Amino acid sequence: MLRGRKVGLRARHEDDIPILRTELYNDVVGSARADSRPWRPLPPGSKDPRLMGDDTDPANVPFSVVELEGGTLVGIAALWGIDTHHRSAHIGMGLRPSARGKGYGTDVVAVLCHYAFVVRSLHRLQIETLADNTAMLRSAERNGFVREGVLRSSAWVMGEFLDDVVLGLLIEEWKRGSIA
Ligand SMILES: CC(C)(COP(=O)(O)OP(=O)(O)OC[C@H]1O[C@@H](n2cnc3c(N)ncnc32)[C@H](O)[C@@H]1OP(=O)(O)O)[C@@H](O)C(=O)NCCC(=O)NCCS
Repeated sequence: MLRGRKVGLRARHEDDIPILRTELYNDVVGSARADSRPWRPLPPGSKDPRLMGDDTDPANVPFSVVELEGGTLVGIAALWGIDTHHRSAHIGMGLRPSARGKGYGTDVVAVLCHYAFVVRSLHRLQIETLADNTAMLRSAERNGFVREGVLRSSAWVMGEFLDDVVLGLLIEEWKRGSIA
């Protein structure tokens, strides 16, 4: 397991699936905001990677997020779009509603940075999030991510186009921040 200050990142367990389905996936509005793919119902037993996490795809590393103290499941995280030529990847995450606003998101970003830069020898990380997602923007910026641009009207979310913000972090910036 990867350990941060408050959370750990581990593999997806079978027991996680019903909780993630109920609290994250079946929240249609939340899914529309956090996932660029359109929502559709998943039958019981579905192996859909949005729930299961596809561990057969080398470009995608899915995690379940747990509290270090007690091990309670608090959400999901992923390093995805791993490009071993350009040594870049994207990060994404979603926390159970009851786990938001407690500093866990900021810690998840920190753990994913450690995994990407130290374990996976990557050079650049990127996050895309809706321009009104203050909690995600702050979680990223707290870890040194820089706003690189706005993709105007790039996301169709429940009946309207919204802007996405692209944030990036380079390993040398991360190392400077880690030492400071
Ligand atoms: C986005 C998300 C992962 C952030 O994690 P979190 O644990 O809630 O965030 P934190 O508690 O670490 O807070 C980070 C910062 O955002 C602020 N913040 C948290 N919730 C906020 C809210 N609802 N509105 C405004 N600011 C908020 C915190 O005050 C903190 O700011 P600071 O660094 O200036 O002190 C989490 O809220 C979540 O899962 N949201 C739903 C799914 C989602 O949006 N995923 C991201 C898709 S790209």
